[in-house]
Amino acid sequence: MNILGIETSCDETAAAVVRDGREVLANVVYTQIPLHQPYGGVVPEIASRAHIEKITEVIRACLDQFKSAAPDGKIDAVAVTYGAGLSPALIVGLNAAKGLAMSLGVPLIGINHIEAHLHTPFLFDSADLSTPGASTLQDPRELSPALGLAISGGHTNWIDIPEYGTYEIIGQTLDDAAGEAFDKAAKLLGLGYPGGPKIDKIAREYLASTSPQSNPTGTLTPPRPLPLIPFPKGHPREGVTALAGLPAELCVSFSGLKTALLRYVQKEQPGEAEIPRVVASYQEAIVQAVAERTRNALKRRNYKALILGGGVSLNSRVRAVLSEVCARAKIPLLMAKPKYCGDNGAMIAGLAYFRRNLVGEEAMRLDVHPSLEAGD
Ligand code: KG4
Ligand code: ZN
Repeated sequence: MNILGIETSCDETAAAVVRDGREVLANVVYTQIPLHQPYGGVVPEIASRAHIEKITEVIRACLDQFKSAAPDGKIDAVAVTYGAGLSPALIVGLNAAKGLAMSLGVPLIGINHIEAHLHTPFLFDSADLSTPGASTLQDPRELSPALGLAISGGHTNWIDIPEYGTYEIIGQTLDDAAGEAFDKAAKLLGLGYPGGPKIDKIAREYLASTSPQSNPTGTLTPPRPLPLIPFPKGHPREGVTALAGLPAELCVSFSGLKTALLRYVQKEQPGEAEIPRVVASYQEAIVQAVAERTRNALKRRNYKALILGGGVSLNSRVRAVLSEVCARAKIPLLMAKPKYCGDNGAMIAGLAYFRRNLVGEEAMRLDVHPSLEAGD
């Protein structure tokens, strides 16, 4: 079954065709990042306008790729993100998908963006099938119950997945998402947008330069690096109403961390040479906060795997530290290929094969849901 997936929830206009939920036959992503860069963040009106301008071209390019990958193939359904995301952006994809489903005479499937991020580790490319020694392709349905961790620019959720396609939030951020915490810090430090990849790179270089291996001959004793700055790890207080009944040990608050960074910068006024240490310390606070909540969640149930998704899952420290957490818990950590970590249509088309709760007429009547949560 070939599903065409369309994604326009934020600043990527994307379409893809996925066979049987996992094999990506075509994948086109047009990123608007350069359009939003001058403003230091995504501007909804600019996003919407760019989606309108690009959506037809992106879908056409995707269908061309599909034709060359599967000359006799036909599209069996159209899937689309209807939330969460920016309303004026979501509406462009939803309308395009409705029109396309109607003209092709195939069913429409409505998909939740956050749940779709958790499908990305299961996507593979046709070429992987012929790569000798390629890792076994895991069927997501064999991994229940699994713990999902969606970390992106808009979300930080710990999600219980008792059966594949069923989701319940068991922990979350009470304010900023992890990606937002990266982006806001980068803005404050004047590092540019989006902040996550920039902070990752600066921190990686800093941590490599301060590791003992960076001076293997040991002929010159380098000055001992200062320890990382102990920024707060975002522990919410037990019983605060913002927890909305969720356990504090599975929740995080990143707004205090951002304030701590601002205070540090105002007080210490770090020079250019000191910025990498500040950046690495800030990143470490986010990574350790995420790792600690993940460890707590893994203790609550006999999970068979940790499924990681969302743009922040590209972060090298997040990947390294969560790999250690999973190795200790003796469960696999499932991560997407880097090209599927950011927003894309393949995750929408892929999940639609497994989760068809909003199909056909019901999907045709769908409106956009900007604040949709996993499991809604
Ligand atoms: O999943 P995504 O593409 O869009 C949303 O659904 O939000 O995630 C985008 C977020 C941005 O906040 C970006 O700064 C962050 O992912 N990000 C990273 C890295 N690459 C992207 N954060 C930390 N380290 C990275 N390497
Ligand atoms: Zn996303």
